[in-house]
Amino acid sequence: METKSYDLRGMASGQREEIYQAAGEVIRSGGTVVFPTETVYGLGADGLNPKAVAKIFEAKGRPSDNPLILHVADRAIDDLVTEVPRQAQVLMDKYWPGPLTLVLKKSALVPLATTGGLETVGLRMPDQPAALALIRAAGGPIAAPSANLSGRPSPTTFQRCREDLAGRVDMILGMDSSRLGLESTILDLSGPVPELLRPGAITLEMLQEDLGEVLDASGNGLMETGQPRAPGMKYRHYAPRAKVVLFSGPQESVRRAMAQQAGENCLRLEIGGGCEVFYSPDDRLLRFPDLESAAHDLFETLRWADDRGFAQIYIQAVSEEGLGRTLMNRLVKASGHDIRRVE
Ligand code: TXA
Ligand code: MG
Repeated sequence: METKSYDLRGMASGQREEIYQAAGEVIRSGGTVVFPTETVYGLGADGLNPKAVAKIFEAKGRPSDNPLILHVADRAIDDLVTEVPRQAQVLMDKYWPGPLTLVLKKSALVPLATTGGLETVGLRMPDQPAALALIRAAGGPIAAPSANLSGRPSPTTFQRCREDLAGRVDMILGMDSSRLGLESTILDLSGPVPELLRPGAITLEMLQEDLGEVLDASGNGLMETGQPRAPGMKYRHYAPRAKVVLFSGPQESVRRAMAQQAGENCLRLEIGGGCEVFYSPDDRLLRFPDLESAAHDLFETLRWADDRGFAQIYIQAVSEEGLGRTLMNRLVKASGHDIRRVE
């Protein structure tokens, strides 16, 4: 199929508005549009139209029992859910627009095709002007998973979306690279106690401060029990072609072990130290100065490593608190649980 691609960077605002209107029309008529968000790019379609939603699963090659997040342009979600619990209201007021998806009991308006057959729905208001303009132009909520082919790292740039989805969607809208680089936090508020299903830039600690008790149900161990709380967690994820291995232990020992064990065709990623990203002259070592920088660049780096033909990627594990928990959630999955402990 023919894909129209528009780079919105550097466009005059009038011209952008025309494109949002055209993209909104594509969504209204049941088509698919890739768009930027502050977390990762999304592959969107009319979230209330089962036929449109089916096209998302087809374009991504994604199992259709994996529910989609509905993206909204404001906090008026009453029509989409059976009730808005007080805790949801508190969090929407504080974090929307932003990288927080709330799972609530869905209303009859939301088709089971969107929720993968669940009676709950994930809702989020992205903090990205182009995304909000598109949702407004579409005139309703947009269902969107990350805009990667199923199993690949989520795309954080226009170029990566085109690589994965050109010829498979109706339109691709490009902006700068995604500000955060990892997908939104998912918090389930449909049960008696709030449960964190996927950590993101809004951390478990932040949510516990806001709500009191929040259970961490994002544990990687859940994948082995076969009972993941977010259905998407059971699938192979974030996997580059290169073999990813995590090294955990004291920083100096980890960095030494990685250097000693790395062969010719191995990329090493270190996290922490310095004030900007450090590249070794031979490109075989990258050091991110802090967690934010590692989060921002992780998925792009995994894809770049494949382009360069690396066979292995050795990554320094970080401690599982705050954004570190979020990063580790993705790293553990990318490694397929291959973790080497170093003394
Ligand atoms: O940052 C993000 O959330 C990005 C951007 C595009 O907004 N979207 C995204 O969507 O990451 P996706 O489909 O790649 O990941 C959504 C995850 C899946 O693991 C899915 O199983 C889970 O959210 N999910 C969606 N609705 C759910 C529900 N009602 N109950 C439990 N888990 C749900
Ligand atoms: Mg995804």
